[in-house]
Amino acid sequence: MRFLLNSLLEIQSKHGYLPKDELERISKEFNVPISRVYSIATFYNAFSLKPVGKHIIHICKGTACVIKGSEVFEDALEQMGVLDDEDFTYQPIRCFGACSLAPVVVIDGKVYGKMTVNRLKRMISKLTSDSVVSEDAQ
Ligand code: FES
Repeated sequence: MRFLLNSLLEIQSKHGYLPKDELERISKEFNVPISRVYSIATFYNAFSLKPVGKHIIHICKGTACVIKGSEVFEDALEQMGVLDDEDFTYQPIRCFGACSLAPVVVIDGKVYGKMTVNRLKRMISKLTSDSVVSEDAQ
């Protein structure tokens, strides 16, 4: 199992995700059913089955963030076409452990607290034009 995980990590690192043909190769190489390989690939957050975009957006769906309004952020991303844009990868997360900053959004590894829909839209617009978020992380 450890070697299988190492192989999956290498593939993830090389491609940025786990392509189907590579998973099939791993299944044969380790003589493990493909369903088992998929169950491992989907269990760990380190793996993605889809190509990852240039920008990764996490919206916190934890209780504190939902109470403070994070539920509308996903709609904002959808309205802006972000969810269908291959330059962006959206991944909801349960809690970042920064509940005092709720609602929290993480963009390209930077945590932004006290997020609002308008601020999020400005940041996404900036990303689509610049590819760098200029607001300071909080
Ligand atoms: S619930 Fe969002 S950071 Fe904890």
